[in-house]
Amino acid sequence: MAAIAFLILTTLFALVSCEMEFHNCYLNYRSDSLYRMNYLDTLLPSLSSNIGDDGFYAASEGPAHAVVLCRGDLQLNECRSCVGVVASEIVQLCGNQMRAIRWHMNCMLRYSDEPMLGTMATMPNTTVWSELNVTSPDRFKEVLGALMDDLRGKAAYGGSSLKAAAGNRSGPDGQTIYAMLQCTPDLSNESCDSCLSQAAQLTPAWYPIGARVYTPSCIIRYEISPFYNIARLEQPRDQTLKPSSSGTYHTLISNGDT
Ligand SMILES: *[C@@H]1O[C@H](CO)[C@@H](O)[C@H](O)[C@H]1NC(C)=O
Ligand SMILES: *[C@@H]1O[C@H](CO)[C@@H](O)[C@H](O)[C@H]1NC(C)=O
Ligand SMILES: *[C@@H]1O[C@H](CO)[C@@H](O)[C@H](O)[C@H]1NC(C)=O
Ligand SMILES: *[C@@H]1O[C@H](CO)[C@@H](O)[C@H](O)[C@H]1NC(C)=O
Repeated sequence: MAAIAFLILTTLFALVSCEMEFHNCYLNYRSDSLYRMNYLDTLLPSLSSNIGDDGFYAASEGPAHAVVLCRGDLQLNECRSCVGVVASEIVQLCGNQMRAIRWHMNCMLRYSDEPMLGTMATMPNTTVWSELNVTSPDRFKEVLGALMDDLRGKAAYGGSSLKAAAGNRSGPDGQTIYAMLQCTPDLSNESCDSCLSQAAQLTPAWYPIGARVYTPSCIIRYEISPFYNIARLEQPRDQTLKPSSSGTYHTLISNGDT
């Protein structure tokens, strides 16, 4: 019985998860095939090998700017492989558009003809949720809200290299609520806090058992089962794995070796 229920649960959630890969091509914006040929085709394939251990990288090629962010708990090799996939997909999907964003489960990529570093953006945004709803939404809302407030502070004030936090709390009906919040680390503490507050408003008000909110500058996810690697999240990042760059956003974390 329990096994069947579990299968049904995972199948339902898998259905939602499959639709997790979104792109937004800014179709009402300018398109230009030379921009792609001259800049994107060089810029995007370079991202995956250049992204460092902190899972964040920004680069420019002529007028084209790109930003990539991996989930804060990924290993470098997983991060690079996600970025490689997203980089090739976004060109296929968004063709000759001057601006685009693509979110995968484990990483996101944006490119634009305008610089993006340090600027908070909550649009476009997208929310996905489980088909299943929690049994005690009022109590769930309270516990989840408190957990997210706590994690928002930890993520926002976490440092200039990684702005991510994950944790859990006991919820109603014997459930444990797990959540992970993350901003691009180029944001100021305050902008990250503000992005995560706005993103929290985009979680479904009826409280499904799991949901994810994606914006260009921050991401929220909660579930009733563990999904993150807390040990990796809390591990100091190896700054020597980051390629040298003239970018001004590369503030090194002070773990003694800089
Ligand atoms: C999320 O996107 C919608 C449009 O898709 C927009 O109307 C809304 O303002 C956005 N929310 C935030 C917090 O930016
Ligand atoms: C969960 O709640 C939403 C909103 O009230 C509803 O549309 C949906 O059918 C519910 N799902 C289940 C499985 O009851
Ligand atoms: C952001 O928060 C961290 C940790 O509290 C702090 O060290 C840093 O000075 C803050 N940065 C700014 C710009 O306020
Ligand atoms: C859940 O939270 C407790 C402390 O609040 C912590 O000790 C435990 O490791 C957490 N578990 C996970 C999977 O995060």
